[in-house]
Amino acid sequence: MHRRAEWPTASNLRQWDFDDAGEQALLALEARYCSYGDTVHYWNTRKIFERCDGSFLYDGEGREFLDLQMWYSAVNFGYRNPRLDAAARRQLDRLPQLASQYLHREKIELASVIARDAERKFGMKGRVQFNVGGSQAIEDSLKLVRNFKKGKSLMLAFEGGYHGRTLGASAISSSYRYRRRYGHFDNRAQFVPFPYHFRGPKGMSKAEYGEHCVQQFARLFESEYHGVWDPKVGEAEYAAFYVEPIQGTGGYIIPPKSFFVELKKVLDAHGILLVVDEVQMGFYRTGKLWSIEHFGVRPDVLVFGKSIANGLNPLAGIWAREELINPEIFPPGSTHSTFNANPMGTAVAAEVMSMLGETDYEAMVMEKGAYFLEGLRDLQHDHKIVGDVDGLGLALRMEICEPRDSFTPAKAIVDRMVDEGMRGDIDIGGRRYGLVLNIGGYYKNVVTLAPSLHISKEEIDLALKLLDIVLGRATRH
Ligand SMILES: Cc1ncc(COP(=O)(O)O)c(C=O)c1O
Repeated sequence: MHRRAEWPTASNLRQWDFDDAGEQALLALEARYCSYGDTVHYWNTRKIFERCDGSFLYDGEGREFLDLQMWYSAVNFGYRNPRLDAAARRQLDRLPQLASQYLHREKIELASVIARDAERKFGMKGRVQFNVGGSQAIEDSLKLVRNFKKGKSLMLAFEGGYHGRTLGASAISSSYRYRRRYGHFDNRAQFVPFPYHFRGPKGMSKAEYGEHCVQQFARLFESEYHGVWDPKVGEAEYAAFYVEPIQGTGGYIIPPKSFFVELKKVLDAHGILLVVDEVQMGFYRTGKLWSIEHFGVRPDVLVFGKSIANGLNPLAGIWAREELINPEIFPPGSTHSTFNANPMGTAVAAEVMSMLGETDYEAMVMEKGAYFLEGLRDLQHDHKIVGDVDGLGLALRMEICEPRDSFTPAKAIVDRMVDEGMRGDIDIGGRRYGLVLNIGGYYKNVVTLAPSLHISKEEIDLALKLLDIVLGRATRH
C-alpha cells in the first residue's frame, strides 16, 4: 500500500517552478527534455513566443513578428479573434467537457450546417464525422473508403501531396521520408504527377500540362498491363484518389481550372472514389469555403480541419455522401476518439460558420489576395531569386531560385530568409519587426504565404516591405 508521504508534495514540486527561467534557460531545458521528433528542430532558430494578436506574434522582449503562415492556416481568422474567443469563453463557462457518447447542441448544429451547405453546393445528401486533427480525420476517411469498397486498401494520390503523419496518412503522403523508419503498410498510395506547371515540360501552357497529366493517368486504364485495372470485370485495384485541390505542403501549387473535371471523368469511368483533402486550403484560404469549389467537381468524401475552430481547440472531420456514411454501412463505433466532437472545438466552429455566413469572405479574400499577388509580382521583378509567384485568394506562393537562372531551386537561400525573419531586427519607420514564414515545396524552396484572412491593406504593405528586405539580405549573404 502506498503511504501518502511518497506522493509528490508541494515542497517537492517547488523545485519545478520555472517562473523565473529566462529564454536561454528555457531553451536549455527544451534541448534536454523535449523530444526532437516534432518539427521544432528543423530550423536553426528555436523561438519562444509569449503573446499573439491579429496578424502578429510577440516574443519575450515585446518584439513584433508579422505572421505570414498563421499556424499553417489553422488561424485563418486572426489570433485572438474577439468574436471566436468570446464563443470559447461562453462554452468554457457552460459546458466545456462532455464524453463523446453524449450529445451537445454545438456538435449537432455544426454538422447540420456543414452537411446542408454541401447538399446545396454538391447536390448530394451526406453526413459529418468529427475527430481531433487532420491526420485522424484522414484515417477516418480511409476507413470509410476501405469499408465502402469492401476492403480494397490501395489508394491513388499525387506526387507532392501531404495528408498527415499518422501511419495511414503517411502511407498516402508522397514523402518516403515520413515512412522510412516505420516499415510498410498495405495502403501505401500509388503517386501520380500533379500539374506543377512552373517545373513542367517547357513549351506547354498550364492548361495543356493539366491535360497531359490527366492523359498520362488515363493511360493506366488502357490495358491490364499497366497494373491498376482488370478490363475483364471492369474493376480497378484502387479504392480512392486522395487530392489536395491546391497542394499545401507541396508548395501552394494551383492546377489549371479544368484539371479536376477531366480527372474526375477518369475516376468515374473506373469506379474510383474522389477524396478531397481541404485540411489546409479549406475555410476560405483560397476564397471559397472549400477550395474544390473553384474546380466544379463533386467529392465523394471531403476532409477538413485546422481553421474550423481557428486553432482554439483541436477539431477536424469528414463529410461524406450518404451512400458511404449512412448508419447501416458505417454503424455505431466504426470510429471513435475521446475528444472527437469536443464541446469547446465545436462551439468555436459553430461560431466560425455563423461568421462566414454573415460576411462576404469570398469577395474580401479574393480582393486582398489579388492585391498581395500584385506586390509579389513587383518583388519578382526586383529580385532575381524569385523564380515564380502565384496565388489563389490568400494562398500565395513565392518560389526561391538561384539568381543565375531564376529556376534552379535554392533551399539555402530560402532557409536564410526564414532565419533573417526570425531575428526580429528589421527597421521599418523606426519600428523593429520580425517575419514568420513557412517553407514548403518539392525542393523545400517555396515560401508558402498564408496570412490572416483579416489582414489589413496596411499589413499587406508591411508584409511586402519585410519580404523585400529579407529577400535582399538572403541574397547578399
Ligand atoms: C492537406 C493536409 N492534410 C492533412 C494534414 C494533417 O493535419 P494535422 O496536422 O492536423 O494532423 C495537413 C497538415 O498540415 C494538411 O496540410
